[in-house]
Amino acid sequence: MQVSVVAFKNKKLPQTQTPFSVLFVCLGNICRSPAAEGVFTYFVKKRGFDSKIRIDSAGTINYHEGNQTDSRMRAASKRCGIEITSISRPIKSSDFVEFDLILAMDKQNRERGYMEAFNRWKFRDPLPEDAHKKVRLICSYCKKHDETEVPDPCYGGPEGFKKSEVEYHLQVQR
Ligand code: 4NP
Repeated sequence: MQVSVVAFKNKKLPQTQTPFSVLFVCLGNICRSPAAEGVFTYFVKKRGFDSKIRIDSAGTINYHEGNQTDSRMRAASKRCGIEITSISRPIKSSDFVEFDLILAMDKQNRERGYMEAFNRWKFRDPLPEDAHKKVRLICSYCKKHDETEVPDPCYGGPEGFKKSEVEYHLQVQR
């Protein structure tokens, strides 16, 4: 199923009681995935799908657990009219069961982070064998960019925030 809100536009969502659930994941869950979550939430609300789609975000490391999103990202987001309220949390085994779609910001998240977590947890918790198939790269849904990964703004200096991840997500998801 397409995650882009564009994909939901003018289409009927499945008439089930259970909302379709989307989890955005990056490394720290303080920049990219909260921005993606904030932008997606904005469009989902705008299109009136809030009761049909559950949205969350997580990180593959727990270093920032309990922290708010990076203030630069929140400021960039606010300038675009989007409020980010996410609190960082690490991805957990039940996410592979509970979420219908898990969207990774970059290949490292997808291949190393998720698969490591998935392989570790599948021996601890009973996970569906094919749960890892829920993991896709968010850029695989890109219609307006050629990039295959969402760049990490924390390593790009202020430019990353100036150009704004939020604007990037706005364009990817619009
Ligand atoms: P994010 O950015 O994955 O977009 O939240 C990062 C935040 C923190 C770290 C790395 C990336 N870190 O190593 O602490």
